Amino acid sequence: MIEDLMNLRWGIPVNAFTVPVFSIAVLWIGWRIWTFTIRPWLRPQDPVVLPYWIPFLGHSFAFFGNSDELLERGLDYVGRSNEIFGIQTLKRQLYIITNPPEVSIAFNDNTALHFDGHLNELLENFGFSKEGLRLSWHIPKPGDWCYLPGNEINPELASLNRFTEDMYRKQLLPGEKMDVMSRVFMRSVFDTLQWDKLDFCTVESTEKGKLLSLRELCRYTLVEGATQTMFGSHLHKIEPRIVEYMLRYNDNAWMVFFQYPDFFGNSPITEPRRVITETLEKFIEMPDEERHEQAWSIKNILAWQKVMNIDLRARASVLLMVYWAANSNEYNISFWVLAHLLHNPELLRMVKEETEAAWIDGVLDIKLLRTNSPNLEAIFNEALRLNGGAMVSRIVREPITLGGKQLKPGNAIIIPARQLHKNEKVWGQNSGDFDAFRFKKHKALSRHASYRPFGGGKTYCPGRVLAKEEVYGFLATLFHRFDLKMAEGKGPGGGKQVFPSLDDSSPALGITGPVKSHDVLISATQRVV
Ligand code: HEM
Ligand SMILES: *[C@@H]1O[C@H](CO)[C@@H](O)[C@H](O)[C@H]1NC(C)=O
Repeated sequence: MIEDLMNLRWGIPVNAFTVPVFSIAVLWIGWRIWTFTIRPWLRPQDPVVLPYWIPFLGHSFAFFGNSDELLERGLDYVGRSNEIFGIQTLKRQLYIITNPPEVSIAFNDNTALHFDGHLNELLENFGFSKEGLRLSWHIPKPGDWCYLPGNEINPELASLNRFTEDMYRKQLLPGEKMDVMSRVFMRSVFDTLQWDKLDFCTVESTEKGKLLSLRELCRYTLVEGATQTMFGSHLHKIEPRIVEYMLRYNDNAWMVFFQYPDFFGNSPITEPRRVITETLEKFIEMPDEERHEQAWSIKNILAWQKVMNIDLRARASVLLMVYWAANSNEYNISFWVLAHLLHNPELLRMVKEETEAAWIDGVLDIKLLRTNSPNLEAIFNEALRLNGGAMVSRIVREPITLGGKQLKPGNAIIIPARQLHKNEKVWGQNSGDFDAFRFKKHKALSRHASYRPFGGGKTYCPGRVLAKEEVYGFLATLFHRFDLKMAEGKGPGGGKQVFPSLDDSSPALGITGPVKSHDVLISATQRVV
């Protein structure tokens, strides 16, 4: 039939090559028209799928590259109406949710939309075996080896995964245990930010002062601090370059989250991942009494992992996940806040006034700083808005209709912070611009459904208050000890430095960092206090 058609209608020579090619072309055109024209028309209740060229593969490559561009293309495709649309990856369809009322519903629904399926995938990506996964959900029952009524570690006898979540929430949410972490963090910052110890971020040193790299200053100081809050100095003793490895891990962490295949065993994530995992395994194998500098939550998590008897690799994977969550955003947000301050001396002066007011007789009052710095708060919120790119994900477990669209079980929803934060219907025509006072003028914006730098619902970031103390405390120490200003003549052609751009070359996981070659060079001098 196809031969006849080819010959009669188009005069295409019929041979062993053209027949299959022609057949495939016909099938492919049929598939395109069916999938993206006829089916959407027949089933208006299904989310519109952004067209793609290759069946099954769909948008996989685009999503793992510049995901932001892909999502913007999707929004354009539905006329920027913010209705739910779908993008196709190898594994499943992803429903993109950006309309504020639907975002709120999605965050509050823990039945049809569920985090656990997603958590399982994450745990596997981080290094869990199937057996480890099974044990980590096991609820101790009478007669089990792990049924220890009256035990003080896990009196509610929750599954290991629920117990772990409970531990980090108790550790991180405001209260005595968060304060301990905050103090350990600040001790580390006080130690790192000493004039004679700034080699890690010094580009040039002269008699008049130092030329510092903002990028390196933030990266090292904040990851060092986060490491100390969880592990004290234990990891450093096992692997002195732990912070360096963690930063390399961070730079490529999206490969872990999106299971980017390691074709030749030389992916940039392989070595840092191996070294950190081995370091954590050595740490876990230390006798408990030797791990005396570890955080309260780490101690308890390790104790219950031991009772459940999950394998060493799985134990280390959980620690790596929490370690990553605790440090991966802090240095990026600090970079952006400081970049804006250094590029605008008047803002810098205003914020410095607030941070200096929190130093009482040479001691930093971190609570006063956190609750009494309206300008810094507004700038912090605005920097989170512009650079927050977290993509919160849930698996659809039951059929659910959202915004008039039917979502199918097995697929996933994605709530992309960047698209929520740029929505012009919420943030106005200047939604892409940095407005230092936006959140000071409109206080309610920080609670808007379309403002989600810390996610929401069940997985709402438990570290959000601590994060603020850490970033503010870091700035307050910097400004108290050094005079900083943007270095002159370090821009292109010896001119003014250009404001760094956001690195959108890989999928965003949280606060996106600057393009690798972009930085802010700072002229620093020591302050006489
Ligand atoms: C500006 C800094 C931070 C930002 C923007 C941020 C952002 C987020 C986001 C968006 C989530 C939700 C992820 C999801 O639902 O898929 C999250 C979860 C989490 N964050 Fe943060 N975070 C920050 C700082 C911190 C800090 C300092 C810690 C700990 C010391 C921390 C610990 C966690 C943990 C443990 C979770 C997992 C919560 C759960 O799944 O139940 N975060 N964070
Ligand atoms: C922080 O920025 C770096 C790029 O400088 C990026 O690789 C990393 O993924 C960012 N962190 C998060 C949580 O997105």
